[in-house]
Amino acid sequence: MAISTTPTQPLLLSALQRQPISHPPIWLMRQAGRYLPEYRALRANFPNFIEFCLTPDAATTATLQPLQRYNLDAAIIFADILTIPHALGHPVKFIEHQGPVVDLFTNLAQIDPLKHKIADLQRILAPVAQTVRQTRAALPAHQAVLGFSGAPFTLLCYLLDTKPSQGIPNLLKMQEESPQAILDLTDVMVTAITTYLHMQLAAGATAVQIFDSWAGLCPPNAWQTLVHQPLVRICQNIAASHPNTPVILFPRLASQQALLNLANDPTLPSTVAFSLGTEINLAWASQTLQPTRAIQGNLDPILMIGEAAPLRTAVTQMLNLAGPQPGYIVNLGHGLTPQTNPDRVTELVEQVHAWRAA
Ligand code: CP3
Repeated sequence: MAISTTPTQPLLLSALQRQPISHPPIWLMRQAGRYLPEYRALRANFPNFIEFCLTPDAATTATLQPLQRYNLDAAIIFADILTIPHALGHPVKFIEHQGPVVDLFTNLAQIDPLKHKIADLQRILAPVAQTVRQTRAALPAHQAVLGFSGAPFTLLCYLLDTKPSQGIPNLLKMQEESPQAILDLTDVMVTAITTYLHMQLAAGATAVQIFDSWAGLCPPNAWQTLVHQPLVRICQNIAASHPNTPVILFPRLASQQALLNLANDPTLPSTVAFSLGTEINLAWASQTLQPTRAIQGNLDPILMIGEAAPLRTAVTQMLNLAGPQPGYIVNLGHGLTPQTNPDRVTELVEQVHAWRAA
C-alpha cells in the first residue's frame, strides 16, 4: 500500500481521513496516568486534580510523559472531561479511591445562570488551550495533538448524579418530570463543548475526541434528543469553522443499531470518526462502518495487565481484521487502568508499528 503523500502530516490525521497508509497509527485512551511512576511523582505536587489540569506547565509535562517512553502517534492533552462543569460553576473534587465528585445540579433555578457562564468558561479553561500550544510546540509534525471534551449526555450524568457507574436516578427522574429542563441543560452543554473544542483547535489541536462514556445509560426513547442530535450539532459546529478537522466520537455502550444510525446520518459531517468500546464487535464495525468512517479501538484494557502472549494474539487479530482497509486507528476500548504493566505498552506500540498488511 502507498505511503501517505504528505510525510509531515501526522499519521493519525491520514488515518482519520481514510487515506491509504503503511500501518495504522496508535495512541491510547488514558495514556497519561497512574500506571506511570513519573505521572505519580508529578501528581503528588497537586492535591487538587483540577488545578493540576489547569496548570499548563504541569499538564504539558503529563501530556508528554507517555510520548517520552513510547513511540505513540498522538498526544492527548492532559485534562479531564469534568473541566466543563467546573468552569460553569459546579466545582469538582477528586476524592482518593472514590473518583470525582461534582457539586451537583439540584434545582431548575440553576439552569439560567449556567447560560451566562460561557465567558467564564473561556477564561477558566484558557490554560487548557495553553497546554495545547505548548504540546504542539514540543512535538515533531508527524505526531498529532488531540484535544477532547465530554459529550452533553455524559456531562449531564456527572452534573446530576454523583456516580454514573452506579446509575443515574436523578437524571432519569428529571427526564420524566421536566424533559424540557434536560433539553435546556443539553443546549447549554452543546454551546459550552463547542466553545471549548474551538479553543483547543484554535490553539493547534490536530483533531478532537468527544467522550460519551455513559451514552449507554440513555433511555432508548431519549436517545435521539439527548445523545444523537447533540453530537451531530457539535460536529456540525466544528465542521463550520474547521471543515477538514476530524472529530472522533466515543459513544460508549451504545447499541450497535444506535451507532450505525449515527454513523449513517447524512447530516453528520464526513470528517467524523468513531472510537469503539470493548462491547463492539470489531469484525462487524470493520465491515459496516469502516468503508465510510474511520474507526478506532477496541482492545480490552485488561490485556495490558496480564502476560505478553495473549495481548500479542489479540493485537494480531485486530490488525488483520481492520488494518488492511484505510481508516483504522489502534486504541483501547476504554482507558488504560492504573494496574497497566508499562512493558505491555512498549510491546503493543512496537507490534503495531512493525505490522504490514499481507
Ligand atoms: O491520557 C489521557 O487520556 C488524557 C487525560 C484524560 C483524563 N481523563 C485524565 C484523568 C482524559 C481524556 C480523561 C477523560 C475522562 N475523565 C473520562 C472519559 C473517558 C472514560 O474513562 O470513560 C471520564 C468519564 C472522566 C472522569 C474521571 N476522571 C473519572 C471517572 C476519574 C476517576 C477514575 C480514575 O481513574 O481515577 C477521573 C480521574 C482522572 N482523569 C485521572 C486521570 C489521569 C486519575 C486521577 C489521579 O491522578 O488521581
